[in-house]
Amino acid sequence: MTILSVVGARPNFMKVGPVHEALVARGARSVVVHTGQHYDERMSGVFFRDLGLPEPEHYLGVGGGSHAEQTARVMLAFESVLQEVAPQAVVVVGDVNSTLATALVAAKRHVPLAHVEAGLRSGDREMPEEQNRICVDHLADRLYVTEQSGLDNLAREGIDEARVAFVGNVMIDTLLKHRPAARQRPLAVDVGEAPYALVTMHRPRNVDRAEPLAEVVRIVEALAERLRVVLPLHPRTRQRLEANGLLARLKAASGVHLIAPQGYLDFLALMDRAAVVVTDSGGIQEETTALGVPCLTLRPSTERPSTVEIGTNTLLPLAEAEVARGVDAILAGEGKVGEVPPLWDGHAGARIADDLMMWCKG
Ligand code: UD1
Repeated sequence: MTILSVVGARPNFMKVGPVHEALVARGARSVVVHTGQHYDERMSGVFFRDLGLPEPEHYLGVGGGSHAEQTARVMLAFESVLQEVAPQAVVVVGDVNSTLATALVAAKRHVPLAHVEAGLRSGDREMPEEQNRICVDHLADRLYVTEQSGLDNLAREGIDEARVAFVGNVMIDTLLKHRPAARQRPLAVDVGEAPYALVTMHRPRNVDRAEPLAEVVRIVEALAERLRVVLPLHPRTRQRLEANGLLARLKAASGVHLIAPQGYLDFLALMDRAAVVVTDSGGIQEETTALGVPCLTLRPSTERPSTVEIGTNTLLPLAEAEVARGVDAILAGEGKVGEVPPLWDGHAGARIADDLMMWCKG
């Protein structure tokens, strides 16, 4: 049996790893295709080494561009690989443009399509990820769900529950597997014994326009008055800061450590030891909940409500005063303690592989 899994951008690598391993352990041929949406060593290569993933068998090298350009390039390049590999099923993960593009090609060529991390909805159609999630879930033949809200959303959208399986969270499989190694590592930045906030911001809504971006800078400065700040800069954010003349200001800010995007293990070590994580990421909301680290997510909504309802996550607006208040409460010991949501137990990849192989055998 041949199963083709797609990776494209940074948040995909840690999701495909557990599925690939579980498929191989069950004797399937698992072919990994990398679209090349993310191509920098720091956004892609280091993850393969950190996670012990095999080199992808096919690399499509599509790179950046507008959403339409990127999606179209992936579709064109993927179609011929799909014909060549001729798998019994295609597995796509998450919500990035590569997920949508390859799902469309598989569906149109009538290759059975499975979506890992199905059913998440932020309700915010401005987010490209939300558009991608909706389309992919409606194309998929088999939908693997991480949390209760996913089941509720898919039922509300009329997707047949016979196609849906609640399997848990593959990203947490990866986190639990690598946490011991991350705990052995020195931090990638020297903050001494001081408590620090780990900050990541890259959502177009927060960094693409001048006014929100200036607020991001003010938030970082307000945090730095209270504790050290470690800020790994996504390429998009770096470009926007530079274009708006704000990069030099952040570089000069005292107590702010601007660093390059980190590999998986270094970033996990940084999250695990942070006093607070301030982010607009999707996956980091889940990883901090699994680690029990307080997380402030600067977005109007989340597609991962279990992290707020059960875990350590709090949604806040992109506003300096509110973030400062949130961090002060956490530093005063009033942060959320939280619990880990059901089935985020390290075995989601195994459940998916079992189900997928049964399903493919029909
Ligand atoms: C993508 C995903 C987002 C995810 C994020 C994680 C979509 C719609 N968005 O956003 O969900 O949270 O990845 O990082 O798929 N760039 C580099 N080097 C790279 C990759 C990108 O310099 O290795 C540059 C690109 O040229 C582009 C910018 O960063 O200018 C954005 O890259 P892109 O893939 O378009 O989207 P992300 O913002 O990374």
